[in-house]
Amino acid sequence: MDLRHCVIPAAGLGTRFLPASKAVPKELLPVLDRPVIQWAVEEAVSAGATDVVLVLAEGKESVAHHLLPDPALERRLEERGKQRELEAVRTAGHLADISIVIQAEPRGLGDAVLQAADVVGDRPFLCILPDDLSVTDPPVLAQLWQGYERHGSPILALARMPRSEISRYGAVAVAETRGRDHRVTDAVEKPRADDAPSDLAVMGRYVLTPGIFDALRQTAPGALGEIQLTDAIAMLARSGPVWGVEYEGTLLDVGTPAGWLATNIRLARDDPTLRTVVRSALAAASA
Ligand code: UTP
Repeated sequence: MDLRHCVIPAAGLGTRFLPASKAVPKELLPVLDRPVIQWAVEEAVSAGATDVVLVLAEGKESVAHHLLPDPALERRLEERGKQRELEAVRTAGHLADISIVIQAEPRGLGDAVLQAADVVGDRPFLCILPDDLSVTDPPVLAQLWQGYERHGSPILALARMPRSEISRYGAVAVAETRGRDHRVTDAVEKPRADDAPSDLAVMGRYVLTPGIFDALRQTAPGALGEIQLTDAIAMLARSGPVWGVEYEGTLLDVGTPAGWLATNIRLARDDPTLRTVVRSALAAASA
């Protein structure tokens, strides 16, 4: 399967993370020892991607700097015998072939994905929204890739949500279910709880086919003048097969201060080097 690109849209304003994200993009905030963007790229690489297309806004180029080699820093660390740090810096700078495209205005996730059209070309591609981390084995994106091998169609990551929460997500209508795979016939962005076509929400991982670019070009802006990826996927689902995979495991939110904090605590509690300090801090806080 010629699935080599992973598009990572990271041109959003990050309003939920202000003021922390005023000068530092939220994608560079650390989760344990690595910034959020590195978690996303590592997931893409572990699913098999070799080329990462970052969609950035003007002024967010530092997100890409983290993923590019830094020979001067590597030389300094080498001179000082800082082997562990050198390895960490080398790893971050050589995870994948990185390209950058700029989204001129924050016109929505759909418009962000469209900016990657020239780099991706006429091939299927993976897409990750870095606001959630996958700590499942196999990672959620790898589960979608397996779904793509089964169906050869666009694949959405689906999770069941309580009706009261579905209006924060996109929700899908389903015509057929095979195990954890659902054939999607429609998708609605942020439906009212009463109007949601099912309790299956679209989460931020996708395998997309090049037809999505034409669908995006035909998609009219919706609320706030934003072009919704969900609307373009709904268009694809009306003209051909689109499948969703109800993935195993969970995605952890790092796109809000509360989610980011909870994710750090949860992962630190399970990390051999941080476990003790986090558990004693939590015990002291509840004493
Ligand atoms: P969100 O809807 O979470 O927006 O975008 P946001 O700007 O990141 O954060 P908030 O809601 O203001 O706090 C979902 C994904 O789509 C990307 C974001 O970077 C994020 O990965 N996105 C969104 C773009 O790349 N461009 C846009 O115009 C909008």
